[in-house]
Amino acid sequence: MKDISKNLCSVECSIRDVMESLNKGVNGIIFLHDNNGVVKGLMTDGDVRRAILKGAPLEDKVRKYMNTDFIYALEGLPRNEYLKKIQGKILQLPILNEQGHLVDILFFKENAFLPVSSPSLCGNELKYITDCVLSSWISSQGAYVKKFEKKFSEYHYDYPALSTSSGTAALHLALVASGIGPGDEVIVPDSTFAASANVVIHAGARPVFVDISEDHWTLNPELLQKAITPRTKAIMPVHLYGQPACMDEIMSIAEEHNLLVIEDCAESLGARYKGRLTGTIGHIGCFSFFSNKVITTGEGGMVITKRKDILQRVSQLRDHGMSLTERYRHEYVGFNYRLTGMQAAVGLAQMEQIDSFLSHRQKIVMEYESGLKDIPGIILPPRQEETDSIFWLYTILIDEIKFGMTRDTLMSHLKNARIDSRPFFPPLHGQPAYKTLAVEGDFPVAIKLHEVGLSLPTANNLSLERIKSVCSYIKKLQQGRSVDE
Ligand SMILES: Cc1ncc(COP(=O)(O)O)c(C=O)c1O
Repeated sequence: MKDISKNLCSVECSIRDVMESLNKGVNGIIFLHDNNGVVKGLMTDGDVRRAILKGAPLEDKVRKYMNTDFIYALEGLPRNEYLKKIQGKILQLPILNEQGHLVDILFFKENAFLPVSSPSLCGNELKYITDCVLSSWISSQGAYVKKFEKKFSEYHYDYPALSTSSGTAALHLALVASGIGPGDEVIVPDSTFAASANVVIHAGARPVFVDISEDHWTLNPELLQKAITPRTKAIMPVHLYGQPACMDEIMSIAEEHNLLVIEDCAESLGARYKGRLTGTIGHIGCFSFFSNKVITTGEGGMVITKRKDILQRVSQLRDHGMSLTERYRHEYVGFNYRLTGMQAAVGLAQMEQIDSFLSHRQKIVMEYESGLKDIPGIILPPRQEETDSIFWLYTILIDEIKFGMTRDTLMSHLKNARIDSRPFFPPLHGQPAYKTLAVEGDFPVAIKLHEVGLSLPTANNLSLERIKSVCSYIKKLQQGRSVDE
């Protein structure tokens, strides 16, 4: 609860009294009330400064200088009305009751648009990128690419790591370097970002969509087993929303059928399955550093693998298929999928903060759990035994009967309150892009979760206070109480 008494002074106060109150750090604003507690005006830091510059004695009554023509709102108005008054004009909006007494103050920052994700660039990012620019080694040849790869590799039990220009490029390289191409099938979950399937098509192979399980939102191992054909060459488990897939089952199916396992870890950096980091359980791990990911380089990705043959081809393919020992000898039809030194400089600084990012994310998860768990109709994301999800985006499901409104209605309320949210990934099997695949089969879980699931703001720099306010907003909505309280 906000203590607004610190923002109040009597109109009988002197300028000095107001300055003293402002000095106590109450957001640079003091509301001035008469003997009946009715707010008559306000003084900001700037108002005081201007009064003194005009020669006002410090002991003079503040009433002579206060700002009486101020924007305020009456309590009980819809939240949108408050926001309309605030936007672009003022940073603080006093809320008065009918008697004119101050009952609350809305601070603009509190009500600023809350994106579903935003990067935190508060470490050595600027220092390293400046160093990179000053060195003039800004493309992929400078020292930062190697430094970033080394740091990433050390974090992943010294698995050799090769950076790429995006997570999509990492997945594409993993497939091509593994020799997957025309005539081959790769099993991909139906619920994932489209990149997981696109890269299979770009490699010339066919993605085979398999439904996910409601228990963990990743590949359903039983259905996966059934989807294997003589053409299947690889399985691509996606650790969706940071939830590790059932890697024991997937690895034993893969072993039985001699399949390659390429983990799509775009959303799961730092997540663990039975204590082991994702990306180091299958044969290849691929990561994304897009700006909404656990760490970012703006755009970027990484391939990690202990398979030396694959690693060498990834290294060549990302650089035009060039021989590693003889420049301009092209052994493969390759790509330019290299990360730049400037991106790697940011990535290195981000990796230095990975432990604090992940521990803050766990606090965010706890805050969401405690704020949402008792709200009827809200189903929290699964927590599997022996797995440590990093909850890349905190994603919940809505039981529309118990909650009292649909997922879409909830999302539009959140939008009105300037809280960003995202629907659960839409299933891929029905996407127009994959029409020519003529996909058959049922995908009830992927369809259902897309209809009822939504991701809430989750970011390395998100304050627990903001999460509290998101949860209490959702609670009020469910209780049918005015969300404007
Ligand atoms: C599951 C998944 N796979 C692959 C990607 C592709 O990564 P990028 O955007 O870095 O190409 C993403 C990211 O957006 C993703 O969420």
